Amino acid sequence: MQKTLITNNTLDFSQEELKDLLDKSTELVLKQFEKVQEQPGYRFHPQREVESWFDEPAPTGGMPLDKLFDLVEEKVLNTATGNLGPHMYAYVMAGGNQVSIVADTLASTINQNVTKWHLAPAITEIEKRVIQWAAELIGFQQKPGHSVGGFLSSSGSSANLDGLTVARNIYFEKADIRNKGLFGMRPFTVYCSEETHSSVDKSIQLLGIGANHLRHIPTKEDFTIDLEALEQQINDDLQNGFQPFCVIGNAGTVNTGAIDDLTTIAHIAQKYKLWFHVDGAYGGLASSLDTKKSLYQGIELADSVALDFHKWFYQPFEIGCVLVKSWDHLYRTYFKKASYLDKSLDKDPGRLELNEHHFLLSRNAKALKVWMSTKAYGVNRIKAMIQKDIDLTDYLNEQIKLANDFRLITTSELAISCFQYTGGFHNPEQIIQLNKALIPALERDGRVFITGTTLKGEFVLRACLINHRKDEQSTRYLLDVIREVGQTLR
Ligand SMILES: Cc1ncc(COP(=O)(O)O)c(C=O)c1O
Repeated sequence: MQKTLITNNTLDFSQEELKDLLDKSTELVLKQFEKVQEQPGYRFHPQREVESWFDEPAPTGGMPLDKLFDLVEEKVLNTATGNLGPHMYAYVMAGGNQVSIVADTLASTINQNVTKWHLAPAITEIEKRVIQWAAELIGFQQKPGHSVGGFLSSSGSSANLDGLTVARNIYFEKADIRNKGLFGMRPFTVYCSEETHSSVDKSIQLLGIGANHLRHIPTKEDFTIDLEALEQQINDDLQNGFQPFCVIGNAGTVNTGAIDDLTTIAHIAQKYKLWFHVDGAYGGLASSLDTKKSLYQGIELADSVALDFHKWFYQPFEIGCVLVKSWDHLYRTYFKKASYLDKSLDKDPGRLELNEHHFLLSRNAKALKVWMSTKAYGVNRIKAMIQKDIDLTDYLNEQIKLANDFRLITTSELAISCFQYTGGFHNPEQIIQLNKALIPALERDGRVFITGTTLKGEFVLRACLINHRKDEQSTRYLLDVIREVGQTLR
């Protein structure tokens, strides 16, 4: 029997229906911003309840779009964690920006695959430009005769993995590790402070270096790496037959925003011939501020830097960025010939094939949102927002110092404040128990969302203020809510 071809059927709607769809989504976007200053930090629902909303087999037939939008509004948008509003202080959550919302929609619309130049000409060039802008912003320079290379990926974690992958492959290139693997090599060691983000630990494990060879160097009072201890450890390792190869500096730690002495680390790296990687996922882009630049001196000497645009560049998730001194480092790390990707037929030598400079092949147009929002707002306005976050953190710290029922634990050059609610207790153990109880209690309350961490063995509340929608009022509100909920726990 002959097969019937359905040739005139697609997944598309008529232009009118598509317009209705877009109008409806516009309406929903506008609603999100209608009362954004009042958005709660968290909307508590037990896990089982949330699971039950989506618990169904894959639907075989479609549902009417108006019903689908209602469902999404009720169960997804209206239950979302309050990342847009000013009451989010947990982890490192920036509020996004409105230009990038539109940019992401446009990027999805054209559905470019940013892998080979001829698959996405404009977006490839935009990605290259965004990478150069990132380098300019932080003062990262190329190797003489080269231009700064880089790659936009999902996150700071992936940017750390990318930087350390390049470090390993370039540093041990002569040992031909891409072909021979690491078998039979003298174990090589990597150095970072004990305050370094866990994505570095994960990267070291993934790269086959092994967690036992990552040296977590103690930190000083200010949570920056102890440089004497660093050098001592390198020397101990050399004496014990290890091969030191890489040191990681923090340009803003996740716990407290501490910025290591990057210049001295760079000198140590030069002295012992180590690769120098900087984790700037949280704080790196704040080095563009005139008020903070001097703290980051030495970042320009790094061989690789991890950055995160979805943190202090106010981009919606997800977009991280690695920078290296030349595109060639990426090419030598990743390039793999494949007949179906061969570019020998291309006649234009200027074309940069991003797929030859990373593990990823198919990828979306992440760069568009950074490019569009930078052009729309201008760098100065974005920098002013970063400065505002820092100033508000200073303000929060002042409020904490003035209050007799709070205790400030750390002050940061950046926008993280670590403190405890004492609730009138004097016994340190009681204070810690109270603060531990506060986290789930505040989550249930929902008005503000804050998380905690442990600093030198002590549990503290940790507020991260990277959201351009915060102001003094919302900052005071954080302490008011903690006090109110804390009093119910005493
Ligand atoms: C210093 C630092 N490095 C790396 C990361 C990981 O970034 P991401 O969450 O984008 O993977 C973070 C996240 O907070 C961070 O603060």
